[in-house]
Amino acid sequence: MQINQISANADGFKSASEVLRKGELVAFPTETVYGLGGDARNDLAVARIFAAKGRPRFNPLIVHVNSISAVQKLVEWPEQADILAQAFWPGPLTLVLPLKPGSGLSPLVTADLPTLAVRVPAHPVAQSLLAAFDGPVAAPSANPSGRISPTTAAHVMAGLSGRISAVLDGGPCEVGVESTILGLADAPTLLRPGGLPVEALEAALHGPVARHSSDDPLTAPGQMASHYAPDARVRLNAAETRKDEVLLGFGPVEADLNLSPAGDLTEAAANLFHHLHALDAMDAAGIAVSPIPEHGLGRAINDRLRRAAAPRP
Ligand code: TXA
Ligand code: MG
Repeated sequence: MQINQISANADGFKSASEVLRKGELVAFPTETVYGLGGDARNDLAVARIFAAKGRPRFNPLIVHVNSISAVQKLVEWPEQADILAQAFWPGPLTLVLPLKPGSGLSPLVTADLPTLAVRVPAHPVAQSLLAAFDGPVAAPSANPSGRISPTTAAHVMAGLSGRISAVLDGGPCEVGVESTILGLADAPTLLRPGGLPVEALEAALHGPVARHSSDDPLTAPGQMASHYAPDARVRLNAAETRKDEVLLGFGPVEADLNLSPAGDLTEAAANLFHHLHALDAMDAAGIAVSPIPEHGLGRAINDRLRRAAAPRP
């Protein structure tokens, strides 16, 4: 099955939504990374997502819709959710909330959990696709399970060629790391650092956000230790390269590729997966990475890099 590359225009949104309606898969851009979309109400479509990614079935998916009112049909809606949705949607934030009975979603989407992860993406192509489809779209990042997330249509084609019907091309993703996932079923808990800094959530909620402890029974967001893995092994906090390594730099260092020579974390996040893909293609034995500060978007960048560097299963 050749992947059909669909242009981001009115005809394209229509044909992409028809693909979804048939229970087939379309990759599409969000402002964070490209998602691999399927109709969240259709068991077969959702099963196809897991099959295309080679993803373990217990890992639940994020549902994408284009408005707060569409979200409210799927989940319970506490006041904190409303505060955050008003402040940050559409945008790189996913909320985990109690699933409403009668949501109509495939139980495969939530892996039978009583909660659902939902987000309203800001990317105009995602918005237009969701409007044309007029239904909930389940979408993990559009990469084979455990590999680097895609931030361009070309990354999607390289990773999933032969496994999905179509990709909507909307250019490179602006944010470049996945959404921040916040659990709101109990006290606000950061389940995955991401494109919206946790500091911004704490400011909007006027209170602290608990950090997910890896001892929790609810192991969810990309919590498998090895994830985002390039072929090359990854070494963090590197001051210089060793034999057979290429350097992924940050700040004023001489590097094979630099996330942000100016040391800007927003620019670094946008470049992260792109540069990992490009360095991996150089076929070096290892990728050494400069230290990245652990604040703001640096938390999300370091989280992804630690997983990329983790021992492989
Ligand atoms: O930016 C993003 O979030 C991208 C774009 C495409 O929207 N999506 C994405 O999806 O990163 P994925 O599947 O690669 O990561 C979703 C994470 C998974 O690690 C999953 O365990 C977690 O969300 N998750 C989904 N439902 C959950 C739930 N009910 N409770 C806790 N975690 C959940
Ligand atoms: Mg992913």
